[in-house]
Amino acid sequence: MYTDTQKDHMNHLVTVLAFILGLGVTSAFAENIDKRQILLVSSAQRAHVLEEMRSLLSGIQNILAALARDDMAAVAQYARALGMGMRAKAEDHLHGVLPKEFMQLGMSVHRDFDRIATDAESLQDPKHTLRQLSESMNKCVACHASYQLHTESLSIRPKERSRHHKH
Ligand code: HEC
Repeated sequence: MYTDTQKDHMNHLVTVLAFILGLGVTSAFAENIDKRQILLVSSAQRAHVLEEMRSLLSGIQNILAALARDDMAAVAQYARALGMGMRAKAEDHLHGVLPKEFMQLGMSVHRDFDRIATDAESLQDPKHTLRQLSESMNKCVACHASYQLHTESLSIRPKERSRHHKH
């Protein structure tokens, strides 16, 4: 097992980590360190968006697995499921709730997946599909860097909450 010196080192490490985590939590409450734009939605809308997001992630996982098997028919099938057909079902009720740029970025991701599906069928070139996929995923990255979803209750920051709360 471990020597006493090793145990000391580990204890020290744990203390340092706890300290760093503690600082993180404290400053998160002291100010809004998450600089991404806050989008206010209902909890049902938030659940919808996040569910769609998880479908995008698992769809991409399926596409990657199919690519690794050189199964381009499956690639096309999984990609098409993330195309404009998915958008119609998932996002119609969000128009007017989320900003236009957000909706357009989302739509262009769905358009990309239709294109990925078509190309997978016609070109059958896994490298080409990978390139398209990685380019399109820049949009996932860009949107995630810009926005966060809050429901009404979460949107009141601790500072504001304490202002509302008079002693
Ligand atoms: C137009 C904006 C936008 C695009 C494009 C986008 N997302 Fe998201 N995604 C979001 C937002 C907003 C959240 C919630 C972030 C938050 O509130 O902290 C989110 C959350 C997620 C989550 C977490 C889901 C959960 O249950 O918590 C996953 C996974 C995800 N996105 C995957 C993806 C993938 C993969 C792509 C690209 C194929 C993508 N997203 C493209 C806006 C976007």
